[in-house]
Amino acid sequence: MPHNTQEQEPLKVAVLGAAGGIGQSLSLLLKTWLGPVAAAAAGAAAPAAAPRTGVIKIAMYDVNRDAVRGAAADLSHIDTPVAVSAHAGDDIGDALRGAELVVIPAGVPRRPGMTRDDLFAVNARIVATLADAIAAHCDLSRTFVLLISNPVNSLVPVLQERLVHASGRSPHDVAQRVFGLTQLDAVRASTFLHEAVPQWTPEMPSVPVVGGHSGETIVPLFSLATRAADTITAEARERLVHRVQYGGDEVVEAKNGAGSATLSMAYAAARITCKFADLLLGLVPELHDTLYVRVRVPGQLLAPGAQDLLETLAGITAGGNGAAGTAGTAAGTVAYFSVPITVGTRGIVSVDALPLQRADEFERKALAVCLGQLGGNIKKGQNFVANLG
Ligand code: NAI
Repeated sequence: MPHNTQEQEPLKVAVLGAAGGIGQSLSLLLKTWLGPVAAAAAGAAAPAAAPRTGVIKIAMYDVNRDAVRGAAADLSHIDTPVAVSAHAGDDIGDALRGAELVVIPAGVPRRPGMTRDDLFAVNARIVATLADAIAAHCDLSRTFVLLISNPVNSLVPVLQERLVHASGRSPHDVAQRVFGLTQLDAVRASTFLHEAVPQWTPEMPSVPVVGGHSGETIVPLFSLATRAADTITAEARERLVHRVQYGGDEVVEAKNGAGSATLSMAYAAARITCKFADLLLGLVPELHDTLYVRVRVPGQLLAPGAQDLLETLAGITAGGNGAAGTAGTAAGTVAYFSVPITVGTRGIVSVDALPLQRADEFERKALAVCLGQLGGNIKKGQNFVANLG
Protein backbone atom coordinates (compact mmCIF):
# COMPACT_ATOMS: atom_id res chain seq x y z
CA MET A 1 0.00 0.00 0.00
CA PRO A 2 1.28 3.49 -0.74
CA HIS A 3 2.49 5.26 2.40
CA ASN A 4 1.24 8.67 1.37
CA THR A 5 -1.45 8.92 -1.25
CA GLN A 6 -1.00 12.68 -1.67
CA GLU A 7 2.46 12.45 -3.21
CA GLN A 8 2.65 9.96 -6.04
CA GLU A 9 5.14 11.61 -8.34
CA PRO A 10 7.70 9.23 -9.75
CA LEU A 11 11.36 9.92 -9.15
CA LYS A 12 13.10 10.62 -12.45
CA VAL A 13 16.85 10.10 -12.84
CA ALA A 14 18.43 11.41 -16.06
CA VAL A 15 21.76 9.93 -17.17
CA LEU A 16 23.51 12.17 -19.74
CA GLY A 17 26.09 10.22 -21.75
CA ALA A 18 24.13 7.04 -21.05
CA ALA A 19 25.37 5.08 -24.07
CA GLY A 20 29.05 5.20 -23.02
CA GLY A 21 31.15 2.80 -21.01
CA ILE A 22 30.18 4.35 -17.67
CA GLY A 23 26.69 5.39 -18.80
CA GLN A 24 25.56 1.90 -19.81
CA SER A 25 27.00 0.16 -16.74
CA LEU A 26 25.62 2.87 -14.46
CA SER A 27 22.17 2.57 -16.04
CA LEU A 28 22.30 -1.21 -15.56
CA LEU A 29 23.18 -0.82 -11.88
CA LEU A 30 20.47 1.81 -11.39
CA LYS A 31 17.87 -0.35 -13.15
CA THR A 32 18.85 -3.17 -10.78
CA TRP A 33 19.54 -1.40 -7.48
CA LEU A 34 16.71 1.14 -7.70
CA GLY A 35 14.21 -1.73 -7.87
CA PRO A 36 14.44 -2.41 -4.11
CA VAL A 37 14.49 1.36 -3.47
CA ALA A 38 11.19 1.71 -5.34
CA ALA A 39 9.80 -1.25 -3.40
CA ALA A 40 10.94 0.23 -0.07
CA ALA A 41 9.37 3.58 -0.96
CA ALA A 42 6.10 1.83 -1.75
CA GLY A 43 6.17 0.10 1.66
CA ALA A 44 4.83 1.61 4.85
CA ALA A 45 8.13 1.88 6.70
CA ALA A 46 9.62 5.04 5.23
CA PRO A 47 10.81 6.94 8.32
CA ALA A 48 11.09 10.51 7.02
CA ALA A 49 8.25 12.99 6.72
CA ALA A 50 6.19 12.99 3.52
CA PRO A 51 7.73 9.96 1.81
CA ARG A 52 6.94 9.56 -1.89
CA THR A 53 5.97 6.44 -3.68
CA GLY A 54 5.52 5.51 -7.29
CA VAL A 55 7.76 4.23 -10.00
CA ILE A 56 11.30 5.33 -10.58
CA LYS A 57 12.19 6.36 -14.12
CA ILE A 58 15.63 6.36 -15.70
CA ALA A 59 15.87 8.70 -18.71
CA MET A 60 18.93 7.70 -20.77
CA TYR A 61 20.28 10.49 -23.01
CA ASP A 62 23.22 10.42 -25.40
CA VAL A 63 24.27 12.05 -28.67
CA ASN A 64 24.77 8.52 -30.04
CA ARG A 65 21.16 7.75 -31.01
CA ASP A 66 21.42 4.08 -31.94
CA ALA A 67 23.59 3.17 -28.99
CA VAL A 68 21.30 4.81 -26.43
CA ARG A 69 18.15 3.34 -27.97
CA GLY A 70 19.72 -0.10 -28.01
CA ALA A 71 20.94 0.11 -24.44
CA ALA A 72 17.58 1.38 -23.15
CA ALA A 73 15.63 -1.33 -25.03
CA ASP A 74 17.98 -3.95 -23.61
CA LEU A 75 17.73 -2.68 -20.01
CA SER A 76 13.95 -2.27 -20.21
CA HIS A 77 13.60 -6.09 -20.25
CA ILE A 78 15.15 -6.46 -16.80
CA ASP A 79 12.47 -7.38 -14.27
CA THR A 80 12.66 -4.55 -11.75
CA PRO A 81 9.96 -1.91 -11.15
CA VAL A 82 12.04 0.84 -12.74
CA ALA A 83 11.06 2.37 -16.10
CA VAL A 84 13.70 3.16 -18.74
CA SER A 85 13.42 5.60 -21.67
CA ALA A 86 15.85 6.57 -24.45
CA HIS A 87 16.50 10.14 -25.63
CA ALA A 88 18.97 11.42 -28.21
CA GLY A 89 20.09 14.61 -29.94
CA ASP A 90 17.56 17.46 -29.59
CA ASP A 91 15.41 15.28 -27.35
CA ILE A 92 17.39 16.36 -24.28
CA GLY A 93 14.45 18.42 -22.97
CA ASP A 94 12.33 15.26 -22.69
CA ALA A 95 15.12 13.54 -20.81
CA LEU A 96 15.59 16.40 -18.36
CA ARG A 97 12.06 17.69 -17.72
CA GLY A 98 10.96 16.63 -14.23
CA ALA A 99 14.31 15.01 -13.39
CA GLU A 100 15.32 15.44 -9.77
CA LEU A 101 18.63 13.70 -10.23
CA VAL A 102 20.88 14.29 -13.23
CA VAL A 103 24.04 12.19 -13.49
CA ILE A 104 26.60 13.19 -16.13
CA PRO A 105 29.18 10.76 -17.52
CA ALA A 106 29.16 12.46 -20.97
CA GLY A 107 32.54 13.18 -22.51
CA VAL A 108 35.71 11.58 -23.81
CA PRO A 109 37.79 9.28 -21.57
CA ARG A 110 41.60 9.07 -21.28
CA ARG A 111 43.88 6.96 -23.44
CA PRO A 112 47.39 5.80 -22.39
CA GLY A 113 49.77 8.70 -21.80
CA MET A 114 46.98 11.24 -21.28
CA THR A 115 46.25 13.12 -18.06
CA ARG A 116 42.71 14.04 -17.07
CA ASP A 117 43.62 17.62 -17.87
CA ASP A 118 44.18 16.65 -21.53
CA LEU A 119 40.41 16.04 -21.75
CA PHE A 120 39.53 19.56 -20.70
CA ALA A 121 39.05 21.26 -24.08
CA VAL A 122 36.54 18.72 -25.40
CA ASN A 123 34.74 17.91 -22.17
CA ALA A 124 34.39 21.52 -20.98
CA ARG A 125 32.36 22.29 -24.13
CA ILE A 126 30.17 19.24 -23.59
CA VAL A 127 29.55 20.09 -19.92
CA ALA A 128 28.79 23.76 -20.69
CA THR A 129 26.23 22.68 -23.32
CA LEU A 130 24.63 20.28 -20.87
CA ALA A 131 24.56 23.01 -18.18
CA ASP A 132 22.56 25.22 -20.55
CA ALA A 133 20.11 22.37 -21.17
CA ILE A 134 19.75 21.65 -17.44
CA ALA A 135 19.12 25.34 -16.73
CA ALA A 136 16.48 25.42 -19.48
CA HIS A 137 14.60 22.24 -18.54
CA CYS A 138 15.14 21.52 -14.83
CA ASP A 139 13.94 23.28 -11.71
CA LEU A 140 17.21 23.92 -9.88
CA SER A 141 15.41 24.26 -6.57
CA ARG A 142 14.53 20.54 -6.90
CA THR A 143 17.21 18.96 -9.07
CA PHE A 144 20.54 17.58 -7.87
CA VAL A 145 23.31 17.31 -10.50
CA LEU A 146 26.14 14.78 -10.14
CA LEU A 147 29.14 15.18 -12.45
CA ILE A 148 31.41 12.28 -13.42
CA SER A 149 33.12 13.67 -16.55
CA ASN A 150 36.82 14.49 -16.27
CA PRO A 151 38.71 16.54 -15.32
CA VAL A 152 36.32 16.79 -12.36
CA ASN A 153 38.56 19.40 -10.65
CA SER A 154 37.94 21.86 -13.50
CA LEU A 155 34.58 20.71 -14.87
CA VAL A 156 32.59 21.09 -11.65
CA PRO A 157 33.48 24.83 -11.74
CA VAL A 158 32.39 24.87 -15.42
CA LEU A 159 29.08 23.17 -14.59
CA GLN A 160 28.41 25.20 -11.44
CA GLU A 161 29.33 28.59 -12.90
CA ARG A 162 27.65 28.01 -16.26
CA LEU A 163 24.48 26.94 -14.42
CA VAL A 164 24.58 30.19 -12.42
CA HIS A 165 24.96 32.15 -15.68
CA ALA A 166 22.24 30.26 -17.57
CA SER A 167 19.68 29.91 -14.78
CA GLY A 168 20.00 33.34 -13.17
CA ARG A 169 20.02 31.65 -9.76
CA SER A 170 22.49 32.70 -7.08
CA PRO A 171 25.87 30.93 -6.75
CA HIS A 172 24.81 29.89 -3.26
CA ASP A 173 21.61 28.21 -4.50
CA VAL A 174 23.38 26.39 -7.32
CA ALA A 175 26.24 25.28 -5.03
CA GLN A 176 23.67 23.43 -2.91
CA ARG A 177 22.81 21.13 -5.80
CA VAL A 178 25.92 20.52 -7.91
CA PHE A 179 28.39 17.81 -6.92
CA GLY A 180 31.48 16.26 -8.48
CA LEU A 181 31.85 12.52 -7.97
CA THR A 182 35.18 11.53 -6.41
CA GLN A 183 33.72 8.34 -4.95
CA LEU A 184 35.89 6.04 -7.04
CA ASP A 185 38.95 7.24 -5.11
CA ALA A 186 37.36 6.15 -1.82
CA VAL A 187 36.32 2.82 -3.37
CA ARG A 188 39.93 2.26 -4.50
CA ALA A 189 41.35 3.32 -1.10
CA SER A 190 39.09 0.82 0.64
CA THR A 191 39.99 -2.00 -1.75
CA PHE A 192 43.74 -1.35 -1.71
CA LEU A 193 43.86 -1.04 2.10
CA HIS A 194 41.88 -4.25 2.48
CA GLU A 195 44.43 -6.02 0.27
CA ALA A 196 47.38 -4.52 2.15
CA VAL A 197 46.37 -5.26 5.75
CA PRO A 198 47.94 -8.63 6.64
CA GLN A 199 45.04 -10.01 8.66
CA TRP A 200 42.13 -10.61 6.32
CA THR A 201 38.54 -9.90 7.40
CA PRO A 202 35.40 -9.73 5.28
CA GLU A 203 34.69 -6.12 6.30
CA MET A 204 35.83 -3.51 3.85
CA PRO A 205 37.47 -0.50 5.51
CA SER A 206 36.14 2.98 4.94
CA VAL A 207 38.81 5.59 4.11
CA PRO A 208 38.00 9.30 3.86
CA VAL A 209 39.46 10.70 0.62
CA VAL A 210 39.41 14.47 0.24
CA GLY A 211 40.76 17.17 -2.09
CA GLY A 212 40.22 16.67 -5.81
CA HIS A 213 40.10 13.89 -8.38
CA SER A 214 43.44 13.87 -10.19
CA GLY A 215 46.92 12.69 -9.18
CA GLU A 216 48.25 14.47 -6.13
CA THR A 217 45.04 16.42 -5.57
CA ILE A 218 43.56 13.09 -4.36
CA VAL A 219 44.32 12.84 -0.62
CA PRO A 220 43.37 9.57 1.10
CA LEU A 221 43.34 9.93 4.89
CA PHE A 222 44.46 6.42 5.84
CA SER A 223 45.15 7.55 9.42
CA LEU A 224 41.37 7.93 9.82
CA ALA A 225 40.38 4.65 8.16
CA THR A 226 37.83 2.53 9.99
CA ARG A 227 40.34 -0.29 10.03
CA ALA A 228 43.84 -0.72 11.25
CA ALA A 229 45.84 1.29 8.78
CA ASP A 230 48.36 1.42 11.65
CA THR A 231 49.14 -2.25 11.09
CA ILE A 232 50.91 -1.28 7.87
CA THR A 233 54.30 0.39 7.69
CA ALA A 234 54.88 4.03 6.74
CA GLU A 235 56.41 2.87 3.44
CA ALA A 236 53.40 0.67 2.74
CA ARG A 237 51.11 3.62 3.42
CA GLU A 238 53.07 5.82 1.01
CA ARG A 239 52.69 3.16 -1.66
CA LEU A 240 48.96 2.95 -0.93
CA VAL A 241 48.53 6.71 -1.24
CA HIS A 242 50.37 6.71 -4.56
CA ARG A 243 48.27 3.78 -5.80
CA VAL A 244 45.02 5.58 -4.95
CA GLN A 245 46.27 8.77 -6.62
CA TYR A 246 47.28 6.97 -9.81
CA GLY A 247 44.90 3.96 -9.69
CA GLY A 248 43.11 5.25 -12.77
CA ASP A 249 46.32 4.82 -14.79
CA GLU A 250 46.35 1.07 -14.02
CA VAL A 251 43.01 0.76 -15.80
CA VAL A 252 43.90 3.10 -18.69
CA GLU A 253 47.09 1.11 -19.35
CA ALA A 254 45.36 -2.27 -19.04
CA LYS A 255 42.67 -1.15 -21.50
CA ASN A 256 45.45 -0.04 -23.84
CA GLY A 257 43.58 2.61 -25.78
CA ALA A 258 40.03 1.42 -25.13
CA GLY A 259 39.31 4.06 -22.48
CA SER A 260 39.49 4.43 -18.69
CA ALA A 261 37.67 2.99 -15.69
CA THR A 262 34.02 2.33 -16.52
CA LEU A 263 32.78 -0.59 -14.40
CA SER A 264 34.30 0.52 -11.08
CA MET A 265 33.23 4.11 -11.76
CA ALA A 266 29.69 3.00 -12.59
CA TYR A 267 29.64 1.08 -9.28
CA ALA A 268 30.86 4.13 -7.34
CA ALA A 269 28.38 6.43 -9.10
CA ALA A 270 25.45 4.03 -8.66
CA ARG A 271 26.09 3.82 -4.93
CA ILE A 272 25.87 7.59 -4.41
CA THR A 273 22.97 7.96 -6.88
CA CYS A 274 20.99 5.40 -4.87
CA LYS A 275 21.74 7.36 -1.69
CA PHE A 276 20.26 10.46 -3.35
CA ALA A 277 17.26 8.38 -4.46
CA ASP A 278 16.73 7.23 -0.85
CA LEU A 279 16.84 10.87 0.23
CA LEU A 280 14.45 12.11 -2.44
CA LEU A 281 11.99 9.30 -1.78
CA GLY A 282 11.93 10.08 1.94
CA LEU A 283 13.58 6.80 2.96
CA VAL A 284 16.29 8.71 4.84
CA PRO A 285 16.18 12.29 6.15
CA GLU A 286 19.78 13.07 5.11
CA LEU A 287 22.73 11.52 3.35
CA HIS A 288 26.38 11.67 4.36
CA ASP A 289 29.16 11.31 1.81
CA THR A 290 32.25 12.99 0.44
CA LEU A 291 31.53 15.14 -2.60
CA TYR A 292 33.44 17.77 -4.60
CA VAL A 293 31.56 21.01 -3.97
CA ARG A 294 31.90 24.77 -4.22
CA VAL A 295 33.08 25.50 -0.69
CA ARG A 296 33.64 29.21 -1.21
CA VAL A 297 30.52 31.05 -2.31
CA PRO A 298 30.72 34.81 -2.90
CA GLY A 299 29.06 36.80 -0.14
CA GLN A 300 27.50 33.85 1.66
CA LEU A 301 28.48 30.76 3.60
CA LEU A 302 27.79 27.50 1.75
CA ALA A 303 26.51 25.76 4.89
CA PRO A 304 27.38 25.39 8.59
CA GLY A 305 30.94 24.07 8.85
CA ALA A 306 32.12 25.74 5.63
CA GLN A 307 33.98 28.47 7.50
CA ASP A 308 35.79 25.84 9.61
CA LEU A 309 36.80 24.11 6.41
CA LEU A 310 38.09 27.29 4.77
CA GLU A 311 40.06 28.17 7.89
CA THR A 312 41.47 24.66 8.12
CA LEU A 313 42.55 24.78 4.48
CA ALA A 314 44.08 28.22 5.02
CA GLY A 315 46.01 26.83 7.99
CA ILE A 316 47.32 23.97 5.88
CA THR A 317 48.30 26.33 3.06
CA ALA A 318 50.11 28.57 5.55
CA GLY A 319 51.78 25.57 7.19
CA GLY A 320 50.05 26.33 10.50
CA ASN A 321 48.08 23.95 12.68
CA GLY A 322 44.98 24.32 10.53
CA ALA A 323 42.57 24.31 13.42
CA ALA A 324 39.45 26.41 13.31
CA GLY A 325 39.81 29.83 14.85
CA THR A 326 42.25 31.38 12.37
CA ALA A 327 39.54 33.73 11.14
CA GLY A 328 40.60 36.09 8.42
CA THR A 329 43.28 33.81 7.00
CA ALA A 330 40.91 32.00 4.66
CA ALA A 331 41.98 34.12 1.67
CA GLY A 332 43.98 32.11 -0.82
CA THR A 333 42.31 28.76 -0.18
CA VAL A 334 40.53 26.98 -2.99
CA ALA A 335 36.92 27.58 -4.00
CA TYR A 336 36.09 23.89 -4.66
CA PHE A 337 37.05 20.88 -2.57
CA SER A 338 35.96 17.29 -2.01
CA VAL A 339 34.91 17.06 1.63
CA PRO A 340 32.48 15.06 3.77
CA ILE A 341 29.08 16.75 3.73
CA THR A 342 25.53 16.10 4.87
CA VAL A 343 22.82 16.67 2.28
CA GLY A 344 19.08 17.06 2.80
CA THR A 345 16.35 17.53 0.20
CA ARG A 346 16.92 21.31 0.23
CA GLY A 347 20.67 21.04 -0.30
CA ILE A 348 23.79 20.95 1.84
CA VAL A 349 22.98 20.76 5.55
CA SER A 350 26.57 20.89 6.82
CA VAL A 351 30.22 20.56 5.90
CA ASP A 352 32.48 18.41 8.08
CA ALA A 353 36.03 19.79 8.39
CA LEU A 354 36.91 17.44 11.26
CA PRO A 355 38.68 14.76 9.19
CA LEU A 356 40.99 17.44 7.76
CA GLN A 357 41.67 18.79 11.23
CA ARG A 358 42.49 15.28 12.47
CA ALA A 359 44.79 14.41 9.55
CA ASP A 360 48.32 13.49 10.62
CA GLU A 361 51.51 15.27 9.58
CA PHE A 362 52.10 13.11 6.49
CA GLU A 363 48.55 13.80 5.32
CA ARG A 364 48.81 17.52 6.05
CA LYS A 365 51.81 17.67 3.73
CA ALA A 366 49.82 15.81 1.06
CA LEU A 367 46.97 18.30 1.57
CA ALA A 368 49.36 21.22 1.08
CA VAL A 369 50.52 19.69 -2.23
CA CYS A 370 46.87 19.14 -3.23
CA LEU A 371 45.97 22.76 -2.50
CA GLY A 372 48.97 23.95 -4.48
CA GLN A 373 47.62 22.24 -7.60
CA LEU A 374 43.86 22.40 -7.18
CA GLY A 375 43.62 26.20 -7.41
CA GLY A 376 45.01 26.17 -10.97
CA ASN A 377 42.62 23.40 -12.03
CA ILE A 378 39.68 25.40 -10.68
CA LYS A 379 40.82 28.62 -12.32
CA LYS A 380 41.01 26.85 -15.67
CA GLY A 381 37.30 25.95 -15.44
CA GLN A 382 36.33 29.41 -14.21
CA ASN A 383 38.25 31.12 -17.02
CA PHE A 384 36.58 28.86 -19.58
CA VAL A 385 33.11 29.92 -18.40
CA ALA A 386 34.11 33.60 -18.21
CA ASN A 387 35.25 33.47 -21.86
CA LEU A 388 32.04 31.78 -23.05
CA GLY A 389 30.08 34.96 -22.46
P1 NAI B 1 32.72 6.87 -23.27
O1 NAI B 1 33.39 7.49 -24.44
O2 NAI B 1 32.60 5.39 -23.24
O3 NAI B 1 31.25 7.47 -23.11
C1 NAI B 1 30.99 8.82 -23.16
C2 NAI B 1 29.59 8.98 -23.75
O4 NAI B 1 29.28 10.38 -23.75
C3 NAI B 1 29.48 8.49 -25.19
O5 NAI B 1 28.40 7.59 -25.32
C4 NAI B 1 29.24 9.77 -25.99
O6 NAI B 1 28.40 9.57 -27.14
C5 NAI B 1 28.54 10.62 -24.93
N1 NAI B 1 28.53 12.05 -25.23
C6 NAI B 1 29.49 12.82 -25.80
N2 NAI B 1 29.04 14.09 -25.90
C7 NAI B 1 27.80 14.13 -25.35
C8 NAI B 1 26.85 15.15 -25.15
N3 NAI B 1 27.06 16.42 -25.53
N4 NAI B 1 25.68 14.80 -24.59
C9 NAI B 1 25.44 13.54 -24.18
N5 NAI B 1 26.31 12.53 -24.36
C10 NAI B 1 27.48 12.83 -24.94
O7 NAI B 1 33.48 7.40 -21.95
P2 NAI B 1 33.41 6.79 -20.45
O8 NAI B 1 34.46 5.80 -20.29
O9 NAI B 1 32.00 6.44 -20.17
O10 NAI B 1 33.86 8.08 -19.59
C11 NAI B 1 33.05 9.22 -19.53
C12 NAI B 1 33.73 10.32 -18.72
O11 NAI B 1 33.87 9.92 -17.35
C13 NAI B 1 35.15 10.65 -19.20
O12 NAI B 1 35.33 12.04 -19.21
C14 NAI B 1 36.03 10.00 -18.14
O13 NAI B 1 37.29 10.62 -18.05
C15 NAI B 1 35.20 10.22 -16.90
N6 NAI B 1 35.55 9.39 -15.75
C16 NAI B 1 35.39 9.94 -14.51
C17 NAI B 1 35.72 9.23 -13.38
C18 NAI B 1 35.54 9.85 -12.03
O14 NAI B 1 36.04 9.27 -11.04
N7 NAI B 1 34.83 10.96 -11.87
C19 NAI B 1 36.27 7.87 -13.45
C20 NAI B 1 36.34 7.37 -14.80
C21 NAI B 1 36.01 8.12 -15.89
